[in-house]
Amino acid sequence: MADFVGAVDQGTTSTRFMIFDHGGNEVGRHQLEHQQIMPRAGWVEHNPLEIWERTQTVIQTAMNEHGLAGSDLAALGITNQRETTVVWNRRTGRPYHNAIVWQDTRTDRIASALEREGKGDVIRRRAGLPPATYFSAGKIQWILENVDGVREAAERGEAVFGNTDTWLLWNLTGGTEGGVHVTDPTNASRTMLMNLETLDWDDELLSFFGIPRAMLPEIRPSSDPRSYGSTVPHGPFTGPVRITGDLGDQQAATVGQVCFAPGEAKNTYGTGNFLLLNTGTDIVRSKAGLLTTVCYQFGDDAPVYALEGSIAVTGSAVQWLRDQLKIISTAAQSEILARQVEDSGGVYFVPAFSGLFAPYWRSDARGAIVGLSRFNTDAHIARATLEAICYQSRDVAEAMEQDCGVPLECLKVDGGVTVNDLCMQLQADILGVPVSRPVVAETTALGAAYAAGLAVGFWKSTDELRENWNESRRWQPTWSPEQRETGYARWKKAVGRTLDWVD
Ligand code: G3P
Repeated sequence: MADFVGAVDQGTTSTRFMIFDHGGNEVGRHQLEHQQIMPRAGWVEHNPLEIWERTQTVIQTAMNEHGLAGSDLAALGITNQRETTVVWNRRTGRPYHNAIVWQDTRTDRIASALEREGKGDVIRRRAGLPPATYFSAGKIQWILENVDGVREAAERGEAVFGNTDTWLLWNLTGGTEGGVHVTDPTNASRTMLMNLETLDWDDELLSFFGIPRAMLPEIRPSSDPRSYGSTVPHGPFTGPVRITGDLGDQQAATVGQVCFAPGEAKNTYGTGNFLLLNTGTDIVRSKAGLLTTVCYQFGDDAPVYALEGSIAVTGSAVQWLRDQLKIISTAAQSEILARQVEDSGGVYFVPAFSGLFAPYWRSDARGAIVGLSRFNTDAHIARATLEAICYQSRDVAEAMEQDCGVPLECLKVDGGVTVNDLCMQLQADILGVPVSRPVVAETTALGAAYAAGLAVGFWKSTDELRENWNESRRWQPTWSPEQRETGYARWKKAVGRTLDWVD
């Protein structure tokens, strides 16, 4: 058998390709950013053709740099930003519109109408999600209603929908010349169209949004020994590689962090933060504002579910300091600036740029910086930004505890922001539990590689994967309980100031 497994990680800001060996160690990678298109306040789009082009380049570059051919890969896994919606013509391969990104709030009227019309509870029960702009269904409806000719083409089965996993799978397996149109239950569970119990598209949910079933991909297991398809010779691998793994990026990170037992959780720090708790084969309904989602489905095994706390803006708040406020010129400088002061000087920053996600689900919220006095400097704002990342994670951890009744004992973390040592220390201080980061911090790509490799016997079992997990760093809490509780009470007060902002 070949020595390596490959994984494409198509994220919100960039696309990377990574190659792993049997020990789960990184052998090679390449990564490229793509454009963030913001035509109006609250709208966020990506160009699907640019994403496909970047995907081909990162694959070719990483493979060439390491002198590898497609035949060196036992399998390929795909992982992706979830919810982001692409609708394209399967005959021409052309998208009808830019991809509408998960952070985009243009569908707020669609989302609030669902609640008014009494459909909210049906969606919560069947899909495990609250009506919100975050998920794909409203974005598909928006394209059907606003782009000429799409509805008729969708009814004919010519205009098809996919998240970016499906878009890349279709292109990698031949596109207009027979590309496969598939997804997995973790991605499908974020559309608001899949029934969590049957793992199939739900006709009543489809009718809420007027979406023809013919548009939707086939839902296949996240790790599929039958393969979704193979890459084509004229593609970036110049030969056949079996594609056998597909997971939404947060579920992939949960797999990469080997959270295979009920009660195991991880928190990923990317543009947003996503805390997922494995609940085993039970569908746990949240009373505290969390999402119920599919964690993974391996082959013919029963699906495993998770509770998820999704936070829209964390790492992207640091980018905002860099790109909009311009008080730093690199993300890493946020740590240097924040270290210039001992605390946030009474400043709290709630970065509710896309409303507030878990556990509040308030699309009417907008960001606020409160507690300012003349004494405050850019350093306090930088520190308040790092604290905001951690306080939002505490909100979600509190909700998990309410839903499960079991307090968190240690938080496994991964993602870009975890290189920020101060932020991780603040996370331990604000939560009051240790924070632990693994050696391989690229858990998202690793999880997709694991799903693909398990399907072809490259790895034999999840126990074998557990042996690959090693801790690289642990942060212990240092704040006193009073400091922790006073800080958190102030944070909650600051959150209250952001609500009811949009009519
Ligand atoms: O639900 C959105 C999430 O999947 C995006 O993750 O890492 O691309 O920001 P990321």
